[in-house]
Amino acid sequence: MSSKRIVVLGGTGFVGRHLISRLCAEGHLVTVLSRNLDAHFVRYLPPGSQLVTCDVYDGAALARAFSGTDAVINLVGILNEKGSSGQGFRRAHSELTYIVVSACRNAGVKRLLQMSALNAGRGQSHYLHTRGEAENVVKASHLDWTIFQPSVIFGPDDGLLTRFRELLRLAPVLPLARPNAKLAPVYIKDVVEAFVRALDNPATIRQVYELYGPEIITLKKLVRRIAQVMGWRRLVLPLPDALGWMQAMIAEWIPGKPFSRDNFRSLATDSVGGIDGLHRLGITPTPLSARIDRLLGSADSRQKRLDRYRRQTA
Ligand SMILES: NC(=O)c1ccc[n+]([C@@H]2O[C@H](COP(=O)([O-])OP(=O)(O)OC[C@H]3O[C@@H](n4cnc5c(N)ncnc54)[C@H](OP(=O)(O)O)[C@@H]3O)[C@@H](O)[C@H]2O)c1
Repeated sequence: MSSKRIVVLGGTGFVGRHLISRLCAEGHLVTVLSRNLDAHFVRYLPPGSQLVTCDVYDGAALARAFSGTDAVINLVGILNEKGSSGQGFRRAHSELTYIVVSACRNAGVKRLLQMSALNAGRGQSHYLHTRGEAENVVKASHLDWTIFQPSVIFGPDDGLLTRFRELLRLAPVLPLARPNAKLAPVYIKDVVEAFVRALDNPATIRQVYELYGPEIITLKKLVRRIAQVMGWRRLVLPLPDALGWMQAMIAEWIPGKPFSRDNFRSLATDSVGGIDGLHRLGITPTPLSARIDRLLGSADSRQKRLDRYRRQTA
């Protein structure tokens, strides 16, 4: 594989951290554009990468940042917006993608890897709707694009196992909206592998890859499994939709908006795939059950180490 110069947007998050390490390990030179580096606790990036502050909504600044690069990877995505009009989702997903596509054109960059989500364009949520809009912008471009549609992604420090583990740690009883929503969790290393393989493979140009794991699990079963792995006796209480909707309304007032009506709407569409993109790329998907114990165990011991450190320094 030849070394490439790659610019990544949205690379300071969970997926970005894993992807950038892997790209650098492959010998690529990676520039990560971030709106605000000060907001990010983790500053360490592997040799071969650099972090640059950039207003990613400024088309001219983007085109300058893209100049001379071989590929752009757009990982930007949000699960929640300020307010509930959908404008925040539209801005971060479709409008930003339009700016990225235009900047690629102006900078003469042909290759674009676009992160999307399973069920993009389906259902009633602003999240999925604007994901679909963004995909349409990419598909209408004359770029050499590849689109990835993952189900929920699990791995070290993810927003799935880690998030529910922390909720369960605090709450002996956990009322759960959309308990029967189906998920096909996909392992972060498989997602990263898909991006790495696509970069150099012309057969992936103008293709959409669904990325999902081999095991389908309901949200309720997943949360109970997390409690079981942690060895905690917890009551996971499935909520009927009317109460789940109310829970979402209330959660919108909690700082950081841990759950919202838009999340509730997104969960109405099962996050399970139809055409296995990992197999299409020659990747054997990793089952959640093969990793969950180790991921939760190592995350917990990290938390214990942190707690011990806090006690020592208090
Ligand atoms: N994690 C999953 O389970 C999952 C599943 C399906 C799809 N995806 C998609 O995969 C991508 C990466 O996910 P992730 O879990 O790594 O997300 P993440 O941890 O939230 O990181 C996303 C990054 O996007 C940037 N960003 C956030 N809000 C933005 C905004 N309004 N405008 C511009 N940039 C913004 C941030 O970078 P700066 O603050 O540095 O600018 C942030 O580090 C997202 O598109 C996500 O929707 C994730």
